[in-house]
Amino acid sequence: MCGIMGYIGDRETTKVILEGLAKHEYRGYDSAGIAVIKDGKISELRTTGRVFQLAEKVAAEHFTGDFGIGHTRWATHGGVTENNAHPHMSSDNNVVLVHNGIIENAREIRAELEAQGIKFHTETDTESAVQYLGWVYNGDPKEAIVKLTRRIRGAFALVIMFRDRNNEIWVARKGSPLVVGHAGNEGFCASDPTALLEFTRDVWFMDDDEMARITKEDCIFFDFEGREHEKKSMHLDWDAAMTSRGKYPHFMLKEIHEQPDVVAHSLLGRVANGEVDLSHELSWTAEQIAGWKKIHFVACGTSHYATIVAAHIMETLGNFEIRTEVASEYRYRNIPIGPDTLAIFVSQSGETADTLHAARLAKAKGAKCLVITNVRSSTIHREVGDALITPAGPEIGVAATKTFTAQITVLTLLGMYLAKMRGELSPETEKRLTTALMDIPSKLASILTQEKAIEQTARNFADARGFFFIGRGLAYPPALEGALKLKEISYLHAEAYPAGEMKHGPIALLDKELPVVALVPQGELWEKTISNIEESMARKSPIIAIATEGDSEISHYSENVIYTPKTEPELFPFIAVVPLQLFAYYVARQRGCDIDMPRNLAKSVTVE
Ligand code: G6P
Repeated sequence: MCGIMGYIGDRETTKVILEGLAKHEYRGYDSAGIAVIKDGKISELRTTGRVFQLAEKVAAEHFTGDFGIGHTRWATHGGVTENNAHPHMSSDNNVVLVHNGIIENAREIRAELEAQGIKFHTETDTESAVQYLGWVYNGDPKEAIVKLTRRIRGAFALVIMFRDRNNEIWVARKGSPLVVGHAGNEGFCASDPTALLEFTRDVWFMDDDEMARITKEDCIFFDFEGREHEKKSMHLDWDAAMTSRGKYPHFMLKEIHEQPDVVAHSLLGRVANGEVDLSHELSWTAEQIAGWKKIHFVACGTSHYATIVAAHIMETLGNFEIRTEVASEYRYRNIPIGPDTLAIFVSQSGETADTLHAARLAKAKGAKCLVITNVRSSTIHREVGDALITPAGPEIGVAATKTFTAQITVLTLLGMYLAKMRGELSPETEKRLTTALMDIPSKLASILTQEKAIEQTARNFADARGFFFIGRGLAYPPALEGALKLKEISYLHAEAYPAGEMKHGPIALLDKELPVVALVPQGELWEKTISNIEESMARKSPIIAIATEGDSEISHYSENVIYTPKTEPELFPFIAVVPLQLFAYYVARQRGCDIDMPRNLAKSVTVE
């Protein structure tokens, strides 16, 4: 939800900011803008559309400055217009800022300032903050920001420049991510640490109710009362090369291809000699684990589907009482949560507002909380403490792929570990599953060799009216994720159903223009799923089958079969999801969609 970048130093300001914004585009791409200070004057340039369009404007107008701030927007308040694009400036032209978040009492502040004769120019909530700052500023930025933070409610990461402060960028955070870096005589700030990787890997993650002054010389931190404090920096273990597309036309395709390695990395140090061991990451005793009677999985989007996979797998491993909940609902229902609950929050970004708020609630109610995230030191990680990191590296494509497989790997290991610590996992099952998990990377690699055939199938169906995805048992959760991928990037309607549920309503929609993607692994539910395929065929729906290698019967039911390697039944979701990701990718590509930045979506959703 909106990306922010700020720079002060001796490089070409606009270049650093534009490059930083490009790395943030997955957070929003409705409009973009930049503001600089040069010779004691603020200038700004804004445009609807993408960062590259802003870059064209910057080049055409030879726009340059001594230091500056930039923004790429995912619209919340106010339409997608140039006027609503950030940065926003106070009417007296003394203050300029960019904002990520939502100012909830913006209307009230606006009315108050308009009554004082201040003219507003945009429909945004953000303008209330900058006008307020302009109104209270009397030469002391810190004091003005303290006043602002007392007046505004909601979530914000703000990056601010004052016209008469020629070597200062100010930042303030409550609820929206913000990271600060300093190296040599350069200072940076960004929403996402990946934007800083090529400059520095030692960064400070801003906490809630914290502000900072960044100059060429240093970076000083204050609380919202204006009191200075020391802050420890963190070292990032990613490098800049990880954020490039390499030989691939899209980040999504690159990230799909990274999955064999990602699964291997996710197993590393957690599985050895046929055993799973997470004790070096989770210092939980068997007694503690035995005390957690309930397991709550809480997440959004793809991460939520990863938890559904996990729940299905865990049910096969032990006698767990599991709930899987969407974070935005978990908070507002009266779900019993207490010290007997292990609440597991899964978030690729570690910044999703819904998940963060749900974690705060569970913590407050005394649950033991654990986070599974791809971003070390992200807000959820810092707040929850106990964590398992998915070592997938930065994921840039808005549609999650490699982080999903990393999540289901880590979640499977967690389920096995919990079952083992509870004395419910037999050594045979542990050995069988760890061996099969170690084989997953090579199996995923073999699926990737079928890319051309999957592309052809996708092309054949790219004009469909929509899709159903069906599966039973462990084939159902990957169907959910397959349908989500397709919706997100191809804009086709896609819905996943447990195969047996189709006859209770959705079957009414079937006809020859609505193909059914059937996940039909060999095993005890094969015949039942085949019956559901027959029911769909009887309504003339074309069938695309995801079946197991060696299944000689399936060709009687579908001319479009994608064969997957055999694995242990519990691990079928690992194998099924990769062809579905490729299928979605090639349908979207055939339809000419913007794959890495699908419309209306943002990768990191920091509003509720
Ligand atoms: C957004 C993204 C999804 C993602 C979801 C949860 O909606 O577009 O791809 O799955 O947020 O994100 P998280 O970072 O918490 O896993």
